Amino acid sequence: MDRIRIVGGNRLNGSIPISGAKNAALPLMIASLLTDDTVTLDNVPRLSDVSNLSRILSNHGVDRNVPGKRLGQTVETGQTLSLCARTIVDTCAPYELVSTMRASFWVIAPLLARMGEAKVSLPGGCAIGTRPVDFLLMALEKLGATIRIEAGYAIVTAPKGLVGGHIVFPKVTVGGTHTALMAAVLARGVTTIENAAREPEVVDLAACLTKMGAKITGAGSSTIHVEGVARLNGARHSVVPDRIETGTYAMAVAMTGGDVLLEGARASDLQAALTVLEQAGVDVVNENEGVRIRRNGHGLMPVDVTTEPFPGFPTDLQAQLMGLMTRAHGTSRIRETIFENRFMHVQELARLGARVRLDGDTAYVDGVDKLTGAPVMATDLRASVSLVIGALAADGETVINRVYHLDRGFEALETKLSRCGAEVERVSG
Ligand code: EPZ
Repeated sequence: MDRIRIVGGNRLNGSIPISGAKNAALPLMIASLLTDDTVTLDNVPRLSDVSNLSRILSNHGVDRNVPGKRLGQTVETGQTLSLCARTIVDTCAPYELVSTMRASFWVIAPLLARMGEAKVSLPGGCAIGTRPVDFLLMALEKLGATIRIEAGYAIVTAPKGLVGGHIVFPKVTVGGTHTALMAAVLARGVTTIENAAREPEVVDLAACLTKMGAKITGAGSSTIHVEGVARLNGARHSVVPDRIETGTYAMAVAMTGGDVLLEGARASDLQAALTVLEQAGVDVVNENEGVRIRRNGHGLMPVDVTTEPFPGFPTDLQAQLMGLMTRAHGTSRIRETIFENRFMHVQELARLGARVRLDGDTAYVDGVDKLTGAPVMATDLRASVSLVIGALAADGETVINRVYHLDRGFEALETKLSRCGAEVERVSG
């Protein structure tokens, strides 16, 4: 099993190209099930979650074409992926496939919308909390689906097709909003989605669906209207830059000090996180080519942050912020309100010398003068990258085990960091 070895202490200087967003690419790929035409996606990151979802989609009959490398392309140049679900041969997504990745449950909506039926394994628990799918099923029910749960599967049917309806989510849910959108675009009549997620990834999905012929207004606000159409066509769409990758590298630069341009990053997609970095004493400069992050000389100030749905501070940057705040001058307070068990990184950061106290949904991080390298273990995607941030500033060597978590969501991490001066390498085996 691969490991990442980091020797801390180097400042980061240079530029880092930001990849296409994993959490936009996944629902966009799933949306290809809605049409018998080809959906071509550009700027798709080369990640294991993308390959896993490709496998899941091919089980439903989706053909995939990935052109080879072109002159001038590098490891972190996003790939182009053409997906064509001309004939859906199987409306069942089995446990063996769905259990590897939670987002694959979302195939339930396009399969139901296009084929009138779907049988999808319930995703089960995961490291960051229970993560149920009740809101997703409720949304499908509001559009006329009949649902039963049998032997660990959600079986949904709508033999006469879905009909527009009124969906009110009790809590903001990204996956619920993706599901409702993908079901509503082919339903008869108008659907209203209230308390919809406003995340950039929802806006990106709506933009692609619109190119495919869907009639959607209000994406990016908390009320979305969809007027169903009889058929969708193919389209070509480029995946938005990854705001979580952007925030992660911004925190890495804040941690080590230095000056890095995050190429292609869109500040408006992570304003809350950038504001927190400024409060901590980091320079954030919006440039034409991206976002520049700079910290020279002075130390980090502690912050008080609560995770919230977009446009609030994202839960997917909470672990990274905690990694950063381990070196602040004072005590930071970080409250996690989205997932109930998303503090798995605390124990591992402690192995580097971090001082973090947990009290329910709140972590108090007492900044320390120095961190010291140690062997650590990744527990989930964002937790593992918080260890990378800690390791970059720690004295000596840190070896991060279970790197497959990082490979799910960070394209060419070692290459991007080492090009800016970090001592980081992948150790195979
Ligand atoms: C998406 O997960 C992201 N995943 C997550 O990123 C991200 O942390 C999360 O949104 C919140 O921003 C992808 O986009 C692939 P939710 P999702 O439905 O859609 C509760 C990463 O590291 N809930 O918005 O599954 C749920 O338990 C991942 O890239 C229900 O109670 O999250 C949570 O408390 C991790 N019932 C809250 O809502 C439901 O039916 C928000 O979850 C659905 C959700």
